[in-house]
Amino acid sequence: MAIVAEKNLFTLHTDHSTYQMKADDLGYLLHLYYGERAEGSMEYLLHYGDRGFSGNPYDAGSDRTYSLDALPQEYPVRGNGDFRMPALIVRRENGAVSSDLRYAGYRILDGKYELSGLPAVYEAEQDQDVQTLEVDLKDMETGLLVTLLYGVFPKKDVITRAVRLQNEGQELLTLESVQSASLDLIYGDYDWIQFYGRHAMERNVQRIPAAHGAHVIGSRRGTSSHQYNPFVILAEKETTEDFGACYGMSFVYSGGFQAFAERDQYDQTRMGMGISPEGFSWSLKPGESFTAPEVILSYTGKGLGELSRQYHRILRHNVCRGMYKEVRRPILINNWEATYFDFNGNKIYEIAKQAAELGVEMLVLDDGWFGKRDSDDSGLGDWQVNEKKLGGTLGDLSERIHSLGMKFGLWIEPEMVSEDSDLYRAHPDWALAVPGKKPVRSRYQLVLDFSRKEVVDYIYGQISSLLDTVPIEYLKWDMNRSIADVYSNGAKPEEQGKVLHQYVLGLYDFLERLHRNYPQVLIEGCSGGGGRFDAGMLYYTPQIWCSDNTDAIDRVCIQYGTSFGYPVSAVGAHVSAVPNHQNGRTTPLKTRANLAMAGSFGYELDLNRLSEEDKRQISIYNQEFKELWPLIHSGDYYRLSNPFCMKQDQETAAWMHVSEDQREALVFAVLLNAHGNPSVPRVRLKGLKADRMYCSRETGTVYSGAALMSAGIVLSDLKQEYGSIRIHLTEMKQENGQSREGEIQ
Ligand code: DGJ
Repeated sequence: MAIVAEKNLFTLHTDHSTYQMKADDLGYLLHLYYGERAEGSMEYLLHYGDRGFSGNPYDAGSDRTYSLDALPQEYPVRGNGDFRMPALIVRRENGAVSSDLRYAGYRILDGKYELSGLPAVYEAEQDQDVQTLEVDLKDMETGLLVTLLYGVFPKKDVITRAVRLQNEGQELLTLESVQSASLDLIYGDYDWIQFYGRHAMERNVQRIPAAHGAHVIGSRRGTSSHQYNPFVILAEKETTEDFGACYGMSFVYSGGFQAFAERDQYDQTRMGMGISPEGFSWSLKPGESFTAPEVILSYTGKGLGELSRQYHRILRHNVCRGMYKEVRRPILINNWEATYFDFNGNKIYEIAKQAAELGVEMLVLDDGWFGKRDSDDSGLGDWQVNEKKLGGTLGDLSERIHSLGMKFGLWIEPEMVSEDSDLYRAHPDWALAVPGKKPVRSRYQLVLDFSRKEVVDYIYGQISSLLDTVPIEYLKWDMNRSIADVYSNGAKPEEQGKVLHQYVLGLYDFLERLHRNYPQVLIEGCSGGGGRFDAGMLYYTPQIWCSDNTDAIDRVCIQYGTSFGYPVSAVGAHVSAVPNHQNGRTTPLKTRANLAMAGSFGYELDLNRLSEEDKRQISIYNQEFKELWPLIHSGDYYRLSNPFCMKQDQETAAWMHVSEDQREALVFAVLLNAHGNPSVPRVRLKGLKADRMYCSRETGTVYSGAALMSAGIVLSDLKQEYGSIRIHLTEMKQENGQSREGEIQ
């Protein structure tokens, strides 16, 4: 059994990890352990001592050794004597911030809980023994019932957490912070790993000591943001890519968030994650309830690489949905960097025609096809086709694209409105803006109030009528600004603190309707590239445009950082023109293709402008990607070097994909910096079987798995700056102890 409950001791087992908590005699739920799989009670880890300035709950009587300020807690609250970062802050009707949660019961259920209106990890067909634990905690003073939810996925080494709150009392309660998960680690010296960045340079990796005090990151932008990703890791100091203990938290949520690590006075470390408390204030009347979104927890003792693979599996199998979950997605060409706003129907057709000849399977028409939209200062909200610009209807264009044997995709930005639009002129109150104050502009656009159902319904009606009348197989859902002015004309003053979360619920409602009503449509998430790259969006959009930066060398870092928490299948990646439009760099076509293949492959340029030789290469890459896709999409991903930490003369970025049966592998390497008279780059491979022989398809050379992993491979062809190579290894069939083909290394 994944979950064992015995005398108020709750043990959650996955194949390689154990999580344990206990409701003690006073009814406090104490966290005991999360780490390597272990049997038996860990209660012996608790230490009780008389500690100055760490007070004692009244019910502890004269026992001064019992303090919630020192004991590890499962769901810490503000106001009961624990002065560390709380998971829950509740303001009572009389103004006091005070809670006291005591154990009130539990339930073990088969299968995985669901969260109404929110994305959540689900039980997939191949999963076994998935169970849910619900633990009730009650505040007897206020009547607040807090139910902690745990979903245990034994084979995936994942435990999900979420929280339901129900006001069963008589007074109005105001939730000022509800974190979805809090994890107290009694012992250990940790590093905090975060993924920070900016527009066009997302998910840089930073590893810093989890020192005394609280280190808090998050987003106050109403979206998960380019600046900090809602995926974090706490790793033991000694932990490397291949060894050591580490914990991940991934938020299945696309709005503002908070994540933190706090090392306390007794060297215990608390890690937590939830909705950003800033701007959040949720009044809960008697009888009302609130559900906090889900956090995906995962632990491994086998290093950061394995932790990533655990997240890759759960996101691919248990978060992403829809027909493209396991089916190869069409290789697409997007016209954005080819034309920006300057296009007409014929130009788009010509781009598609050339692409189709080279094996591209879908044309995506980006921004500028609707309303008055020849630049980014007008038109958003008016989702009527600009037939003058297209030289016909959207249906005509879709038909022309389909006649080439291609699918047709469309860009939309449903959450936005331009001040210069018919929608804004008709409904200025539908934009989020504080009455009497001029709103903050960003890209000249305002944010529609998706906390209001009538706004969501209206825009949904516009988009669905397009989908009902025009054959469209793909949508690119963009979102190009942060939310600065948080005020809804549809909410009372005392409910304005709900607006940001209700906005996200409105977004999810829209996406869920699309998912259900248009199952054949593949949706790619986007927020100026990767500004909303999170597990919540992946529930609706199995791929997300990773970054507006399409330069292959910058993408090495962006995709490296992204790989810590997200699978390759989630990463939208395209070959674009050189010099690159974001940074002016010129890189070989092969390197651009190799980087784009580490994702949902596509193009972002006018192929008509390429030389015949480049076109020939592109048709080869397309053919190759189609063949390699199963290995890239479903294989285990290994990072072979860290592009953020390059040593002189070893400036090679490398990664590889290994098939589940370890019979096939694909290695990619890029030379980030070339020097005169260089030393030869080498890289050690991972994830192979030591006792098998592998043959390189490119050279015919045969190596043993042990040699490839211990001695490594020589990348002597990697000489040119920004050059790259790909090595496809397949297992050799052994005949009488001899390899069948190739030269033994
Ligand atoms: C931002 C996206 O990330 C780009 O790819 C492009 O779609 C533009 N928006 C269009 O406005």
